[in-house]
Amino acid sequence: MTVPLKYRKSAFWDAVYSASDASFLPIDPGETFRFQDRTDAAPGQIAVDVGTGLGEWACQMSRLGLAVTAYDYSSVAIERARQLHAQHGAVTYEVHDFDADPIPRPLQPGTVGIITCRHVLNFLEPRFVADARRWLHKDGILHVTTAVTQRIRDGRGIGMPEEEVRELARGWREWERYDLDPHGEITVMLLRGPYI
Ligand SMILES: C[S@@+](CC[C@H](N)C(=O)[O-])C[C@H]1O[C@@H](n2cnc3c(N)ncnc32)[C@H](O)[C@@H]1O
Repeated sequence: MTVPLKYRKSAFWDAVYSASDASFLPIDPGETFRFQDRTDAAPGQIAVDVGTGLGEWACQMSRLGLAVTAYDYSSVAIERARQLHAQHGAVTYEVHDFDADPIPRPLQPGTVGIITCRHVLNFLEPRFVADARRWLHKDGILHVTTAVTQRIRDGRGIGMPEEEVRELARGWREWERYDLDPHGEITVMLLRGPYI
């Protein structure tokens, strides 16, 4: 997955999240509804949000009753996420680099119900998907939300090419795909059952 190098450094994201006007875009209720509907997310399930940024999606999952740990390698993002969502309080936010750091202790093999990657998989090393498979339990879900580069109309081209989105389905027991907008610019791959 190729993205410009600058996006692959935590310093870049620290600068983004240090801006005084840095804020998260509100999450459309339809996105949360479809997530809950398609994943059968249920209270008490263990969920991990990868590359959480300012933590809004992690918070949404927590409001559904999931027990969420949210990681990002930008310490600025994590600090701000903790402040922004202090009142909500239920999410654990941790600094972690999925490409470079030792695996966090809570990510024991076969223990996680849902792993979400919202607009982040294209920034990670390809081996991340193999790591995620190991952490999931046998019916666990990897939930990938991404822009599709060929379909993005703003010309930035940040996202995953259609071929790589399709390739994600390989080797999972079940998969399902749905779009979050009428043009299919933002798509979701829901991958269930890490071991065939
Ligand atoms: C486009 S932002 C998406 C943020 C959030 N998931 C959202 O939906 O708003 C990508 C995020 O991935 C994080 N990230 C990129 N590479 C990472 C890595 N190797 N480990 C942890 N986080 C990473 C960045 O710091 C940034 O917060």
